[in-house]
Amino acid sequence: MPSLTKWRIELISLNNEGCRFYLDHYKPFRLAALEQDPDAFGSTYDREIRFTDHDWLSRINHPLVKTFVAVRLRDRKVLSATSLIGPTSTPGTASNPFQASSEMGDASDHDRHHDRGEASFVSFQVTGVYTLPEARRQGLAKTLAETAIGEAVAYAEQHGKRLELSLTVYTSNTSAISFYESCGFVVSPEGPRESFNPHKKASADEICMHYRKSP
Ligand SMILES: CC(C)(COP(=O)(O)OP(=O)(O)OC[C@H]1O[C@@H](n2cnc3c(N)ncnc32)[C@H](O)[C@@H]1OP(=O)(O)O)[C@@H](O)C(=O)NCCC(=O)NCCS
Repeated sequence: MPSLTKWRIELISLNNEGCRFYLDHYKPFRLAALEQDPDAFGSTYDREIRFTDHDWLSRINHPLVKTFVAVRLRDRKVLSATSLIGPTSTPGTASNPFQASSEMGDASDHDRHHDRGEASFVSFQVTGVYTLPEARRQGLAKTLAETAIGEAVAYAEQHGKRLELSLTVYTSNTSAISFYESCGFVVSPEGPRESFNPHKKASADEICMHYRKSP
């Protein structure tokens, strides 16, 4: 197996360079993920292949979305990625966080809620977790998850809020559930819920997992 050790974690920035990287490197990574592992995601390859550059960039430019990537230094290829959505003062998780993020309003909405002192907690969601098949079991996704968790934990501490960090995963995706457990997430006692996916026009059971502590 070729050495994958020469990689580093980066946060995709909101400047021109970040937008270029998103289109040149993240977009093919995301499309490959949807094509290779369609059952892992709420969205579909057929849907996203039709996205315009404007559609793609609206994700990276959303003020509540941070996308962390493990990038191979030699050619800037994205090997693994994780997105963090938040902070919001809305508890719980959406089945399709990318869609939810576009419906969340903007950061000023969020600030207005906080100015009114309505929430004693701050909510984040982890989503878009994927590692290329040839780069798996080398700790990339865990390093990215730890980076995203660290960001959410630091935000909550700085603002004196309780942290609600959560995600949804299909009940059938047992390897992802094991992965999240290894990162400190626990399955919600509410158990599975059936969720209708409008992109796939099908229902599937999903569970919510909450970050509790470092394992
Ligand atoms: C789940 C996934 C992101 C893990 O990525 P990865 O980079 O291989 O994960 P890591 O190497 O950081 O694994 C960290 C730990 O998670 C657990 N883990 C990872 N993959 C696992 C698997 N297939 N089965 C069981 N446990 C697993 C292990 O405890 C692992 O530690 P170890 O290798 O020392 O035993 C990857 O398998 C993937 O992309 N799957 C398809 C997409 C997907 O299901 N995404 C989640 C959507 S909700």
